[in-house]
Amino acid sequence: MRTQVAIIGGGPAGLLLSQLLHRQGIDSVVLESRDREYVEHRQRAGMLEQGTTDVLRDAGVGERLDREGLVHHGLELRFGGAGHRIPLTDLTGRTVTVYAQTEIVKDLVARRLADGGDIRFEAEVVAVDPSAPSVTFRRDGRTHTLECDFVAGCDGFHGVSRPAVPGVRTFTREYPFAWLGILADVPPSTEELIYANHDRGFALHSLRSPKVSRLYLQVAPDEDLAAWSDQRIWDELAARFATDDGWELTPGPITDRAVTPMRSFVAEPMRHDRLFLAGDAAHIVPPTGAKGLNLAVSDVTVLAAALTEYYATGSETLLDAYSQHCLRRVWRAEHFSYWMTTLLHVDPAADDFALRLQRSHLDYVVSSKAASTSLAENYVGLPLPGLT
Ligand code: APR
Repeated sequence: MRTQVAIIGGGPAGLLLSQLLHRQGIDSVVLESRDREYVEHRQRAGMLEQGTTDVLRDAGVGERLDREGLVHHGLELRFGGAGHRIPLTDLTGRTVTVYAQTEIVKDLVARRLADGGDIRFEAEVVAVDPSAPSVTFRRDGRTHTLECDFVAGCDGFHGVSRPAVPGVRTFTREYPFAWLGILADVPPSTEELIYANHDRGFALHSLRSPKVSRLYLQVAPDEDLAAWSDQRIWDELAARFATDDGWELTPGPITDRAVTPMRSFVAEPMRHDRLFLAGDAAHIVPPTGAKGLNLAVSDVTVLAAALTEYYATGSETLLDAYSQHCLRRVWRAEHFSYWMTTLLHVDPAADDFALRLQRSHLDYVVSSKAASTSLAENYVGLPLPGLT
């Protein structure tokens, strides 16, 4: 069995890469260990930078996104009992869009299959040869080999691609907290996202649609979900979002809940020989900056452009620049995500001095145009050099 690009992983990175390559006449096979139902219903991120929506639209999967995505022009930082709006669009000229990753995955799978694309679900890659190059996978109890020109490792944090990069160097930061996230069948109590810093810990009011709210609470990394009744979750959220002017949070039926650990992680380089890492396989950010999905999209956009140049001209210049090109953007997003996380969460080890510094920092971000603009331009996404 042979293809031009073997793609390991059918998450947003692998599926979008396959679609971008298809638009350039380049063949690929996507090997995904889970079944279709599973990948289409995994609850993940949902905030898209304008550059991400542009890429999805150009890739031919923007129709439902344009119909159902909710365009946002600002966000709120809430602390000390008061809200402070950061007018993202006024400060940067750009917007962000709320559209869940599950929906992007559904749109991409449908588009690829309608175009005759080759996505193999329940196909688990067990070995990668970056030099031959080829991948070995198990499906229906049998072992198969897929030969190719290139391998794209889009197999997430726990995949098999990263360990196939000899001498890979990793950079990690763990945080002394996690997020308890819920989905609730209740109209959001806000039109724009609210990032709240409170003595009791961080809270985020996000949304999925005009009828579905998504909310998060800072909890301990080893938090026991069973200790959180619906009532306790809503009471804690209400306490952390409380304002001096009596703003109210409307509770509703909780349909999904999970505790997510927070981690920063980068692997360098993102390439070895004919193997290229993209998305969560190469880097993880804490969710506070809403960058994970957007980084996956920018990685595969850069990779698709490099492969397109290679197949059109034989030049490997962009392929050779891939890792360096991506890592510049990755480290910017890593810094921003770390910065937003430490700005807004309560570190259990923080002393009073550290807490006063944090409050001063928050006051500065909402009162200085320069500081607000810095937050805004990172949040909406910095341009992808050479591509946007
Ligand atoms: N063989 C085949 N598929 C694999 C293997 C393997 N050995 N290991 C992992 N996979 C699959 C997983 O089942 C998953 O569907 O690879 C896919 C990786 O997808 P994601 O984890 O979603 O990663 P990525 O596509 O890089 O998406 C980027 O953005 O919102 C953030 O972190 C969030 O997942 C999100 C990410």
